[in-house]
Amino acid sequence: MTTVAIVYHSGYGHTAVLADKVAQGVRDAGQTAVLLPIESAAQDFAPLIEAATKADAIVFGAPTYMGDVSGVFKVFADATAGVFFTGGWKDKLAAGFTNSHSFAGDKGHALASLTILAAQHGMNWVNLGVPSPTVVAAERGPDTLNRVGSFIGLAAQSDNASPEITPPAGDRETARLLGERIAKAALRWTQGADAVLDKAA
Ligand SMILES: Cc1cc2nc3c(=O)[nH]c(=O)nc-3n(C[C@H](O)[C@H](O)[C@H](O)COP(=O)(O)O)c2cc1C
Repeated sequence: MTTVAIVYHSGYGHTAVLADKVAQGVRDAGQTAVLLPIESAAQDFAPLIEAATKADAIVFGAPTYMGDVSGVFKVFADATAGVFFTGGWKDKLAAGFTNSHSFAGDKGHALASLTILAAQHGMNWVNLGVPSPTVVAAERGPDTLNRVGSFIGLAAQSDNASPEITPPAGDRETARLLGERIAKAALRWTQGADAVLDKAA
């Protein structure tokens, strides 16, 4: 059994919907999901960082605000500098998701920030692994997987409406698939490493 922590910020609830779906995907793969919401920039991050440090993999999630991760998420990221110095997240797996109002919305930049955070910790990034849509634009709808065509992580799109109805079903299912993928990768990574290292010793 592996544990996947999902550390995320969501100002208005849309990115939180995706976090829940990532957690569902982890559970669908038979593994343990730990949801760790970042509530505010002023909170004590120590318990959250401690919980994430116990996990085999960490999925980072943030809405795209002004073309990057939200400021609240960035404050959390800066607070992980202590773990950076101890190497506490080194060799864990990482993945990420973001969500914005526009189809592009400079979401790629937010995902790049998440990959750099993981790289600074010496983590290994697991990409989305869901093909971009091959349907013609007219057939691309709310149920389409990886609707906006992103590869390094999940890039979802939400309208200015309640999180109960947006992001749409395709983005939610893509989030679930990301959860399954990182959970299976964590299983391979942890169990495979033990078997190979025992044999090599
Ligand atoms: C301060 C702020 C900045 C935003 N900047 C962007 C942006 O750069 N690109 C974009 O497409 N949407 C942008 N949005 C829209 C949000 O990404 C969108 O509403 C998203 O669904 C919010 O997610 P949340 O409910 O998890 O906070 C911005 C929203 C806010 C509040």
